[in-house]
Formats: sequence, C-alpha cells, structure tokens
Amino acid sequence: MLPEISLNILDIANNSIRAGASLVKIEVRINKEEDILTVKISDNGCGMTREQISRVEDPFFTTRTTRDVGLGIPFLKQAAEITGGSMSIESIPDKSTIINASFGLSHIDRMPLGDICSSIYTLILANQNIDFLYIYECDGKEYQLDTRELRQILGDIPFNTPEVAGFIRNFLIENKNDIDEGYSI
Ligand SMILES: Nc1ncnc2c1ncn2[C@@H]1O[C@H](COP(=O)(O)OP(=O)(O)OP(=O)(O)O)[C@@H](O)[C@H]1O
Ligand SMILES: [Mg+2]
Repeated sequence: MLPEISLNILDIANNSIRAGASLVKIEVRINKEEDILTVKISDNGCGMTREQISRVEDPFFTTRTTRDVGLGIPFLKQAAEITGGSMSIESIPDKSTIINASFGLSHIDRMPLGDICSSIYTLILANQNIDFLYIYECDGKEYQLDTRELRQILGDIPFNTPEVAGFIRNFLIENKNDIDEGYSI
C-alpha cells in the first residue's frame, strides 16, 4: 500500500497539516551501529485527547467524513512493529502531537526509505503557508532545512519560484549525499 517510508512520512505530515499545524518538524535518523532507523514527526496542530489516541491506532477510526477508514497511523505502526520496532503517539489537545516510529534498519521486512528528498520537497512546495523543519541524520552527521530561515532570506519571494524551488531540491539532495555518502536506505 505505502511501500516506502517516505510516502508514509508524507501521509503523517499531511495529518499534521489537516490538524491545522503552522509548524511541522520531520526527523529521519539512521544509526547503523544500533541498526535502527527512527522517524519523528511533531506538529503544533489541534492535537488529540487520550481517548482519540487510543482509537487512532484502530483502522476503523477516523474523524474524516470523506472516508470511513483511517490507515496512515495503523500502517506506520504495523510497518515499524514487523521490523522489531515500534510506534508511539504523544499529544496535548490544542497544542501538539508527536509521532515516533522506529524500524530495525537491516530487518528484511523493513520498507525502503524511498525518495525522502522528493517527499520533503513536495510538502514544502505544496504547503507554502506552513513551516517545516526537516532534519536528516546518518551515523551522527546531520543537516537540516528550516523554511523559517528560508523565509527570512527570501522575503516575499515564493518557494515555487523556479530558482528557489531548484535550490530547495538541490539543497536536500546534495546534503543527503554528503551525509550518507549515497548509502542505500
Ligand atoms: N497530527 C495529528 N494531529 C491531530 N489529529 C491527528 C493527527 N494525526 C492523526 N490525527 C487523527 O487521527 C486520525 C487517523 O489518522 P490516520 O492517518 O490514521 O488516518 P486518516 O488521516 O484519517 O486517513 P488516511 O491517512 O488513511 O488518509 C485522523 O483522522 C485525525 O483525526
Ligand atoms: Mg492520514
């Protein structure tokens, strides 16, 4: 269904956007020595009550009216658990939500990370009124892209201006290659 972790990240980040977040933080961390890949998505959206959280892990719960079944979170949970990892949700109503998932990096059933740079690029370009902080770490080296900093530099120039869009794309790809040396994740 979502055979790549990066597509699952897109889905979880879109939950944050639908929850009215103005800032979405996405962290992808790879630790080869500990054989673990972690994904953390935090937002300042509407949050969930304790009761909502317990129901969200159930595929038959969703607040969406357009569809009866919500599958983004249950899928992430299952995808993490089959690799010996786990998924957790922490949330404060009207304040914040944090989704944490860990995967066994070398587990045979782990989905590939997929094209994470394209996912982040798509999120930023498709939601220019929302800020994103993206952090990618591999074995202790990391880089980040903070759209709040970009905004300060760019002023009124929109992210979808070709030069800016191209810069964002190259920034994501080149920094990733610097950090993971093209290691296939
Ligand atoms: N970051 C969040 N903040 C507030 N509520 C959330 C957040 N993420 C999920 N939810 C709530 O949990 C429900 C389930 O999310 P989930 O991604 O599993 O399914 P969905 O988004 O409803 O549907 P699908 O992902 O299959 O399109 C959402 O409908 C929403 O009510
Ligand atoms: Mg969803």
